[in-house]
Amino acid sequence: MDQIRQQIEALREQLHEHNYNYYVLSQPQISDQEFDRLMAELIRLEAQYPEYADPNSPSVRVGSDINKSFNQVAHRYPMLSLQNTYSEGEVSEFYNRVKKSLNEDFEIVCELKYDGTSISLIYEEGKLTRAVTRGDGQKGDDVTDNVRTIRNIPLILRGPEVPSYLEMRGEILMPWNSFDELNRERAAQEEPLFANPRNAASGTLKLQDSRVVASRRLQSFVYYMLGESLPTESHYENMTLARGWGLNVSSAMQRCQTLEEVFDYLRFWDRERRHLPVTTDGVVIKVDSLVQQRNLGYTSKFPRWAIAYKFNPEQAETTLESVSWQVGRTGAVTPVANLEPVLLSGTTVKRASLYNEDAIHALDLHIGDKVYVEKGGEIIPKITGVDKDARFMLGDKVTFTRNCPACGSLLTRNEDEAVHYCPNSAGCPPQIKGRIEHFVTRKAMDITIGPETISLLYDKGMISDAADLYSLQFNDLAVLERWGETSARNLLQSIEQSKSVPYERVLHALGIRYVGETVARKLAHAFPHIEMLMSATVEELTAVEEIGGRIAQSVTAYFSSADSLLFVDRLRKAGLQFTLSEETLADRTDKLSGLTIVISGTFALHSRDEYKKMILQHGGNNSGSVSKKTDYILAGENMGPAKLEKATKLGVKVIDEQTFLEMISL
Ligand code: IVH
Repeated sequence: MDQIRQQIEALREQLHEHNYNYYVLSQPQISDQEFDRLMAELIRLEAQYPEYADPNSPSVRVGSDINKSFNQVAHRYPMLSLQNTYSEGEVSEFYNRVKKSLNEDFEIVCELKYDGTSISLIYEEGKLTRAVTRGDGQKGDDVTDNVRTIRNIPLILRGPEVPSYLEMRGEILMPWNSFDELNRERAAQEEPLFANPRNAASGTLKLQDSRVVASRRLQSFVYYMLGESLPTESHYENMTLARGWGLNVSSAMQRCQTLEEVFDYLRFWDRERRHLPVTTDGVVIKVDSLVQQRNLGYTSKFPRWAIAYKFNPEQAETTLESVSWQVGRTGAVTPVANLEPVLLSGTTVKRASLYNEDAIHALDLHIGDKVYVEKGGEIIPKITGVDKDARFMLGDKVTFTRNCPACGSLLTRNEDEAVHYCPNSAGCPPQIKGRIEHFVTRKAMDITIGPETISLLYDKGMISDAADLYSLQFNDLAVLERWGETSARNLLQSIEQSKSVPYERVLHALGIRYVGETVARKLAHAFPHIEMLMSATVEELTAVEEIGGRIAQSVTAYFSSADSLLFVDRLRKAGLQFTLSEETLADRTDKLSGLTIVISGTFALHSRDEYKKMILQHGGNNSGSVSKKTDYILAGENMGPAKLEKATKLGVKVIDEQTFLEMISL
């Protein structure tokens, strides 16, 4: 037995060592395959001999599927944020403030401000014992199991001077390449995309299944050390030591003696940051000496010894090659700029949104123009300007197309809207395909079929709307090129399963304009049979809370069209649910009747969606924004500060999930 134990420990030691060589020294001594082989051996032994389990074994990087809701943990030292500045002038004011207040020599440390999600790593006797999110700054979520899967966070620190209790503050990031890959996968699965690597990183950290976290390839940078007995009184020295212990301290950290050197650093990284594999949104400027840091102290919100300098959003210049037009399921036509590929904050940009006719006019765009593209917080970059000085030959002026690029119909534009529509909704292929794509999405009918297959079946004349999916035949599918019996059977099975999708999601699937997931749910609860909804008047509809005139008009218009009625009838004959289920009806109570509840933040016990359902189920009204009408705010972690302020001002009661669950269970 002892021999097995020794073998396990030897493997762990080797793997820790190889991790260190790889992540800290960047000098791997063995191949990835060899590493994987050692790891597989360790995992096998640990599974066989669970009595030798260790939370800091390198095998925890692989993650586990044990489901957990996160415990809240109080921070020993609060997690503060920094005051933001946007100009060299403001940086100079900070510098002079520090100078005046210290009235002695001081040094500055400049660091990149990594744009991810902040984390507090607690090491006791050199071992990672806990990782906690910022939360509200006073307490956060214990996400230790997830953080243990992040490969450049050492589970055990190496070195003689490691304090017995240590908190490392840092940032968890998703590198651009992992982010792009993740979003590509999500697009293929028709899952909602993450807007930026920051959201992707914080979303990933809150996942329940650490195996998924492990697969997402997060990274960390640490930038501050806390504890009772730190090795030195210099931030820079401490961070340098931490680097030696195996923590990932940015090599961009730099000590500066003068304000000019600080400016040089800002200017240098404002250019260079676009070549980094992760997002940075600025520079953090800190006083180096911990003694001086203590003397400067804190305001109510920020340290006085540090500030953040934020970069302007990143820009790149490239050439406008052409403009193409996309037709959505609602018939809205959007212009898309095709660009000469250009590197922008880590990804290659080939296309940018041009929004609408007014935006094109405002830019005075011509084909061949040199244009500036910017990537703000969004996935799709935008064109923010034209370099008119670089025009030596004027290309064709970009004008909005008059005809639908897909079916040729004359486009229409409502006077008070900026959007052009193709009116041929019944005959315009991208609109039809788009409606079918919407129909099958996860939050609607959840049928496993991608846009290519929809397009194929449509082009072959096998489907001309979503209702046709329900009459697809095995023999027709199995003979399709590159199809086989398995794919045919899988698709038919998924279609069959969709027949039990609840009414509220069927209603969403219909694709009535302005009837998204939430509105569909509200309508389904207010009109539990489709007949009731079909015959509802605008007045009856607007009597439902949060259903306004625009939605009501759209619903009545939909059900007054013979085509829609026929479509719904075919779906009903196919066996879809058009009545709120018995269970939902039976479980309905009026415990929250007359109460308007706003949900804010993230929760440990149920998802936001589940809470929304519960509110409706118990006769309450779920609203998106705080107003005089709000009775309660159901608040989770990270409730928006604006909401909190408004709630306090209006005297709205804030309740936590526990209280809410009690309210509906009594
Ligand atoms: S120092 C008390 N250094 O930016 C000072 N923060 O607005 C603690 N951040 O909460 C922060 N890079 O999430 C510091 N090099 C860096 C940073 C950094 C990114 C984040 C961090 C912090 C926020 C401040």
